[in-house]
Amino acid sequence: MKKISVQPRPEADEENSFLRDVITGLSAQPKWMAAKHFYDAEGSRLFERIMRLPEYYPTRSEMQALRENAAEIAALIPDGAALVEFGAGSNAKIRLLLKAAPQIAAYVPVDISAEYLEEQAQEMRRDFPNLKILPVAADFTKRFELQLSVRAMPRAGFFPGSTIGNFEPLAAVGFLRNAARILGEGAPLIIGVDLVKDERVLNAAYNDAQGVTAAFNLNLLARINREAGADFDLSSFEHRAFFNAGRERMEMYLVSRKKQTVTVGGRPFEFERGETIHTENSYKYTREGFRDLARQAGWIEHALWTDPAGNFSVRALKTKS
Ligand SMILES: C[S@@+](CC[C@H](N)C(=O)[O-])C[C@H]1O[C@@H](n2cnc3c(N)ncnc32)[C@H](O)[C@@H]1O
Repeated sequence: MKKISVQPRPEADEENSFLRDVITGLSAQPKWMAAKHFYDAEGSRLFERIMRLPEYYPTRSEMQALRENAAEIAALIPDGAALVEFGAGSNAKIRLLLKAAPQIAAYVPVDISAEYLEEQAQEMRRDFPNLKILPVAADFTKRFELQLSVRAMPRAGFFPGSTIGNFEPLAAVGFLRNAARILGEGAPLIIGVDLVKDERVLNAAYNDAQGVTAAFNLNLLARINREAGADFDLSSFEHRAFFNAGRERMEMYLVSRKKQTVTVGGRPFEFERGETIHTENSYKYTREGFRDLARQAGWIEHALWTDPAGNFSVRALKTKS
């Protein structure tokens, strides 16, 4: 029987929808792009470097919370479960869980970054030969389905990295409702949520000294050049990131260093000097704030762990059943 591990993608349609999103975002006032478009293969590799930066506390803090509470977390995952990881990216965090939870029978990483997803899946197949590795290349903001074999297994969800913070709060509720549908009644969801903290720590995390976050942000323009036939000159844009205390979120922008015209798919777009493209929000939550948000989507918080410094939270949610 032919084995299909990655769901077939309607490639042409995906490309058109990227171009459509770029045109829509650059035609808006102020200009913007959805954060999911950061993640082509190069964007995913740059994010892996961000995870290792000294200023980027979220990865270290979350790994610490996962490591120190691995046994308790593992106890929530049913025997023979398929663990579905939303926005999997690098497989560093899942390795921690798999070590603590040998009852997991299948690992189902879901990610929009198809090429990087397959690279990471190959590593996992090599390192965990007895585990079924069943990647799904999909945009989790849209409706998608798991493989039939996975739907026949008990399931648990894993959503680390505070990727939930990239959604507007209302959209986060929508995502959590969709995750509940995909995982099924009674399934646990282990989710990493970054916490509100001292602005200096936040601002440093998104403005690292090596300029990796700046390169990650600017790679969006390189991707638009490659995939949407554009002529952005990367040296005439710069990275800007800061904490918006009123909205409790980090905001990331690309700022035009001069007045210029950029062509995308044959269409001209004017930029004033200092004009921005808003590329990402990363909402930070309080302990109670996220608990309330999850409840609106039908999830009850069963446990909350943090790293010892209290920088980052990992929560176990369950649907009301
Ligand atoms: C902030 S990174 C987190 C990566 C990793 N899970 C971690 O904990 O560090 C976000 C991840 O979600 C993926 N992603 C972002 N938007 C997505 C979408 N709409 N659908 C599927 N995957 C998405 C990205 O490709 C990336 O791997």
